[in-house]
Amino acid sequence: MTAHFYWNGEPVPFRPGETIAAALLGAGIVHLGRGRIFCGIGACQGCLVAMTGAAAVEACLTPARNGLRLSPLAEEQADHD
Ligand code: FES
Repeated sequence: MTAHFYWNGEPVPFRPGETIAAALLGAGIVHLGRGRIFCGIGACQGCLVAMTGAAAVEACLTPARNGLRLSPLAEEQADHD
């Protein structure tokens, strides 16, 4: 079975070495809640997403891992992280 993580409960496949952002873009997902993937180098914070069991992460810098559960960042998370 292809490696995948979950975005809003839906499986998103990824290839080894891909970031979360690359896999989301590959699946046609560009809007991440409050922001979108813009710089791709960790500078704009537009790609912040919520990861179950962890603080918000930058999708463009974070390697995809099998079984991760991700979702758009809630307003209160973005304001306090
Ligand atoms: S796209 Fe700019 S920080 Fe990730």
